[in-house]
Amino acid sequence: MNALVKYQVDPVVRTKLDFKLEDVPRFWFGGDPFRTRLFDALSLTFPDGERYFIESVRLFRNKITDPDLQQRVADFIRQEAQHGMAHDKMNQVMKDQGMPVDRFIQLLQKIFKFELSQRSPQYNIAMTAAAEHLTALMAETFYRHKATLAEAHPYVRALLAWHSIEEMEHRDVAFDVMQQVGEVPDHLRRFALAFTTIMMFNFTLYRANIMLKHDGFSRLERIKMAAQGLPWFFGKQGILSAMRSEYLDWFKKDFHPSQHPVIRQYQVWVDTMATTNDPIQAGEAFWQAGL
Ligand SMILES: [Fe+2]
Ligand SMILES: [Fe+2]
Repeated sequence: MNALVKYQVDPVVRTKLDFKLEDVPRFWFGGDPFRTRLFDALSLTFPDGERYFIESVRLFRNKITDPDLQQRVADFIRQEAQHGMAHDKMNQVMKDQGMPVDRFIQLLQKIFKFELSQRSPQYNIAMTAAAEHLTALMAETFYRHKATLAEAHPYVRALLAWHSIEEMEHRDVAFDVMQQVGEVPDHLRRFALAFTTIMMFNFTLYRANIMLKHDGFSRLERIKMAAQGLPWFFGKQGILSAMRSEYLDWFKKDFHPSQHPVIRQYQVWVDTMATTNDPIQAGEAFWQAGL
């Protein structure tokens, strides 16, 4: 991290992108049920999670006087709304596979409703900015190395590529709202990331386990899958462990999301999208351009 350099790209709202998710096979991650369902379990939280982020930022909208931040908030809301719609389609695919998606979503909605009605706006914007720190790191986590998603289906890989680059584009919006008008104490900001991380991992693992059960895997098979599959995420060489230092930067006093460089092949996605107008080709080129 270099505290002196600021890296930023502006959010661009892109609408009506089609990732042909209905054509994606059941175990789209190289036929690997465990990896597939972990990604599916994460994807499941996005539509309602993103609607919660939008509501949290809206709580502060009338306090924002800076026209630049007002514009970035408007773009943030529109980008997140698009992500929600795209991941809703992915949820529909999971529903068609017999997954208890509605049950998961009802629980999520209950939690977010509780947070918004019972907790302070400060708490909600801190949770949102913290969750945005996690999503901002998706591009580097999944696309820095080509090998990471080499076995993933190109359509899901393209969906995640688009989502990842837009998360990077708007990564500082909720943070700036929190910092400029949120009046969020530093201890709450730090707590929010630790708490969000624990909640997200627990719920993701919990949902993946239930989905694998619905896929017909026995308890013993699921334990074996977890033992073999978890190191890919959390092991010494795991894709999440590799992001440890960027993740921990949040806890530094002078942290700002723009201190992290934009992923090196960002422009590849933008240029391919401009020439083909096809988010699947853009995602493919973006993935191919990884190290
Ligand atoms: Fe998003
Ligand atoms: Fe976001």
